[in-house]
Amino acid sequence: MADQKLNGEVFFPKEDTINNAIVKDWNQFKLKAEENYIGFWEEEAENLHWFKRWDKVLDDSEKPFYKWFTGAKTNISFNCLDVHVKTARRNKLALIWEGEKGEFEAMSYYRLHQETCRFANILKSMGVVKGDRVTIYMGRIPEIAIAMLACARIGAIHSVVYGGFSVESLHERIEDSQSKVLIVADGAYQRGKIVPLKEIADEALKRAGGIEHVIVVKRTGQDINMEFGRDMWYHELRSLPIANNDCVLEIMDAEDPLFILYTSGTTGKPKAILHTHGGYQVGVYSTLKYVFDLKDEDRYWCAADPGWITGHSYIVYGPLLNGATSFMYEGAPNYPYPNRYWQMIEKYGINILYTSPTAIRGLMRFGDAWVNRHDLSSLRILGSVGEPINPEAWKWYYKTVGKGKCPIMDTWWQTETGMFMITPTPTVPLKPGSGTKAFPGLQFDILDENGDKVADNEEGYLVIKNPWPAMIRTLWGDPERYVQQYWSKYPGYYLTGDSAKRDEDGYFWVIGRVDDVIKVSGYRLGTAEIESALVSHKAVAEAAAIGLPHEIKGNAIYAYVILRAGFEQSDELFEELRQHVGHEVGPIAKPEQIKFVNSLPKTRSGKIMRRVLKAKELGLDPGNLSTLEE
Ligand code: WTA
Repeated sequence: MADQKLNGEVFFPKEDTINNAIVKDWNQFKLKAEENYIGFWEEEAENLHWFKRWDKVLDDSEKPFYKWFTGAKTNISFNCLDVHVKTARRNKLALIWEGEKGEFEAMSYYRLHQETCRFANILKSMGVVKGDRVTIYMGRIPEIAIAMLACARIGAIHSVVYGGFSVESLHERIEDSQSKVLIVADGAYQRGKIVPLKEIADEALKRAGGIEHVIVVKRTGQDINMEFGRDMWYHELRSLPIANNDCVLEIMDAEDPLFILYTSGTTGKPKAILHTHGGYQVGVYSTLKYVFDLKDEDRYWCAADPGWITGHSYIVYGPLLNGATSFMYEGAPNYPYPNRYWQMIEKYGINILYTSPTAIRGLMRFGDAWVNRHDLSSLRILGSVGEPINPEAWKWYYKTVGKGKCPIMDTWWQTETGMFMITPTPTVPLKPGSGTKAFPGLQFDILDENGDKVADNEEGYLVIKNPWPAMIRTLWGDPERYVQQYWSKYPGYYLTGDSAKRDEDGYFWVIGRVDDVIKVSGYRLGTAEIESALVSHKAVAEAAAIGLPHEIKGNAIYAYVILRAGFEQSDELFEELRQHVGHEVGPIAKPEQIKFVNSLPKTRSGKIMRRVLKAKELGLDPGNLSTLEE
């Protein structure tokens, strides 16, 4: 492999890695998938259980509303649990969990199956039936996975809201999804403090109607308000006879909804991305297997949060579909000390670590000694996700954490794609900062404004040219917006919202979002959410938010506000506005900086020109200003 002629700095796979890989000749494997991508996905689907086989692998008769495995009957929860319980994997650990304070929990497939059935029976007893929405709002604790799997088991559609979101974000998502049941924890531990999840939920529920029952999982144990007739403790419900571990599974159509997950988009409110049982399971199963070269004996750790797509696909569903052992950690990477991650890798013998550039950069700044104190020899493969990784952080991760022997899988994908899209596999030569090439069966292009392909090394819009099984099916409740947002700029092509370059070796370099989405520490936020939180404060008349480069977080939020008459700018007001955004959207959305201004650059039709604000801050040319209002 080392004789391949590639430009720039290249890291070739070690012999060991190649010898152990599930697929040794990746190029050959990919070529086959390229010749017949439908056949490729069909073959992958054969590895999972279907109650009834599909009539058609891909139905594209109503593009862009693609359907996969039509006619098939399945259930992802069955494939995650029941399938393994019938084999020798029954007693294998499905989930290992460590709490921030050091508590430990381990669940075999057998036990996770039982717990899922019990939870599913509780939901059933509350009248939850197939197609109902259930909102889940918790920290990183095993019950979040159990709740998701329980919903899937009975055909309810889960809508997980990240535990770092706050009142208005939760309210908006509960209301939009018309959830009947809310599953919440009393609190979550974060850096030794309690995030009062139930209290936040109480406030959100005052703003939203529709929730009939609240199931409260005890985690932090502080006093909380329990509303009689609405709120019930999970541990009490769990000990009732109705919560037995025999729960009839709902046989789902391949295209039946599995979950909705809200994410920030180009304009306006967060949108509910819809994923389904059949195609999604095939996509996440197969991508995880090949990209992380997942073996039965592996202990795999995805350090993301289950409240985001990374956690859905690669903490919960992907690992369980593969019968793997998934490790989950509740707290912050540097709590109580910057060696927390390394300590746990050593303690549990983690083989695969999948985390974000922000976490890597954040840990890198504490120096090598924290890492070197631990035996990390169990590590075999590393991964990165959520934002572009700068070569410096990549190399530190590779050398200091991976000791130069673990390839880094820099996986580019989105909530909408459901699964890895541009990614290496362990045997692919790596270039720091590039996700290398498309996963088998996928075709990408980079286009200019007119829809023409850009030349090598030129920046353009990243688009996907063919469908894939784990793709978004629609925006739940808003199919027109689905078409408009993803499929209308270049008809027939899926618009990712990212800009990218492709080099002369065909390697992709994703640069970042070209829309109104800001990636802060890998978390996806919309300018609209931050702005509407700001204008919901009595002092603010108008607001604009932009993302500016930040050394650790990738991007930091900068906001501009025009105050209402009678309010004066001050340090106190700055802090009050930051807290207000934190309270409404979540701590991750707090602006780094707020500038008080008298006017904002707008187009004649009144749209704020954020790129002008950004260019000004960065001292760059603002570009075409012909639409700028006088
Ligand atoms: C960004 C997260 C560069 C990108 C899985 C994308 C990345 C957005 C990478 C989706 C990566 C994700 N390199 N950029 N490896 N992975 N992104 O929906 O801008 O939270 O469009 O899904 O994250 O964010 P989302």
